[in-house]
Amino acid sequence: MRFPEDVPELTDGVVTLRAHTPADVDAVYEMCQDPAMQRWTTIPVPYTREDAVSFVTEMVPGEWRTKGYGAWAIEVDGRFAGSVSLHDGEGGVGEIGFSVAPWARGRGVMTRAAKLATKYTFDELDWHRMIWRAFVGNWGSRRVAWKAGFRGLVVVPGGGRARGVRYDEWVATVGRDEELEPQGNWWTVPVLEGSGIRLRGFKPEDAQRVLEACNDERTQHWLAGLPSPYELRHAEGFIESRQDALASGEGVSWVIADPVTDELLGNVSIFAMNQRMDKEHGEIGYWMHPSARGRKVMTNAVRLVIEHAFTPIADGGLGRRRLVLLAAVPNTASAHVAEANGFTKVGIGRAAAPAREGRWDDDYIFELLATDPRP
Ligand SMILES: CC(C)(COP(=O)(O)OP(=O)(O)OC[C@H]1O[C@@H](n2cnc3c(N)ncnc32)[C@H](O)[C@@H]1OP(=O)(O)O)[C@@H](O)C(=O)NCCC(=O)NCCS
Repeated sequence: MRFPEDVPELTDGVVTLRAHTPADVDAVYEMCQDPAMQRWTTIPVPYTREDAVSFVTEMVPGEWRTKGYGAWAIEVDGRFAGSVSLHDGEGGVGEIGFSVAPWARGRGVMTRAAKLATKYTFDELDWHRMIWRAFVGNWGSRRVAWKAGFRGLVVVPGGGRARGVRYDEWVATVGRDEELEPQGNWWTVPVLEGSGIRLRGFKPEDAQRVLEACNDERTQHWLAGLPSPYELRHAEGFIESRQDALASGEGVSWVIADPVTDELLGNVSIFAMNQRMDKEHGEIGYWMHPSARGRKVMTNAVRLVIEHAFTPIADGGLGRRRLVLLAAVPNTASAHVAEANGFTKVGIGRAAAPAREGRWDDDYIFELLATDPRP
C-alpha cells in the first residue's frame, strides 16, 4: 500500500479519519504531554518532539506500507483531534488503540472514531473480531468501548504493560455480526430525596463511616460475609468497586446521607441485576451506621429505592419487575424494613446466610413485584 495516497478516508459527517501528515507533529506532541495519555497509554515518557516526528513520519507510514492498515488521524472541525490505530490483525482478529486530544474529549469524538475504524475492519479487511484493551481504571476508555458495542469484559491481572511495568487490564471484544451499540446497562446514581433523608452516591470521604458501620457488632453479626475485622482498606475497596457495579449493570449503591451534614447514616443497594435471564430482577441489601438506627431511616430509604427500581429505564429508573430481599430469620429489625415496604414473606431459604464460626442461618425470603400494592 502507498502512503498516504492509499489510506482510506472515513467519515460519519462529524468525525473524519484520514492519513497523518507532517503538519500533525505539533498537535501529536502536545496531546502526548497530557497526564492521562502518559498514565493510560504506552507512549514514551517523557515524550519529546522527536518522538512525535518519528510517530508521524516513520512509524505510521511504515505500518500502512507493510501491513495495509495502521493509525489514522482523527479530524474534527478541520483540526487534528487524536489518533485511532489498528494492530495485530492476523487471522481476522485485531486490536484497536486510541487517544483524543484533551480539547476534543467528552463530546463523543472517540466513540464515533472507534465505530468508523471497527466497521472498516469488518467491511474492508475481512476481520471478524475486534479487541479493546485498557488498563483497569481508565474509565473514559471503558465508556468509549461500551458505547461502541464492545462486550464480555474481563479483567486480566497483570495483562497490560507500559514502559516495563505490568498493569491489570480490561479486555472486551466485538464481533462482525454484533451491533456497535452498548450492551447492558451502565447505571448512574441519582440523588433520591424524601422523609428527611437524602440518598446519594459514595465518595472517598465516606470510608471512615463505612468502616465504623461495618465493624459494628450487629452489622458483623448479621452480615457475617463481611471481612472481620473490617479495615479501612475494605471500606475504600468497597467504595471504589461501586463504579464497576454501575458500569457492568450489576448494582447501584447509595449512601443514606443526613440532609444537613451530608454524613453517612447507612447504605442501601440494589444488586444482582444481571443474574437472571430477564434482567429485570434485583435484590435489596442494606446496613445502618449504629448512630442512626431506630429512627425508621432504613424503612424510608428502601421506599425511595423501590420507587426508583420499578421506574422504567426510559424514565430514568432501573426497570425492575421483581425485587427480593433476604434477612436471616432471627433478624427482626431487617424483616420489619421489608414488611413495612410491602414485601411478602414467601419462604425460608435453609442454611442460606453465612453466620460466624462456620455456621449458616436460615433466611426469610421476601419478594415484591412491581404490580404489588405498596404502602
Ligand atoms: C479515553 C479517550 C480516548 C476518550 O475520548 P473522548 O472523545 O472523550 O470519548 P467520548 O467523548 O466518545 O466519550 C464517550 C463517553 O465516555 C465518557 N468519558 C470520557 N472520558 C471519561 C472519563 N475520564 N471518565 C468517565 N467517563 C468518561 C464521556 O462523557 C462519554 O459519555 P457520554 O456520551 O455518556 O457523555 C480520551 O479520554 C483519551 O484520549 N484519554 C487518554 C488516552 C487513552 O486513555 N486512550 C485509551 C487507551 S486504552
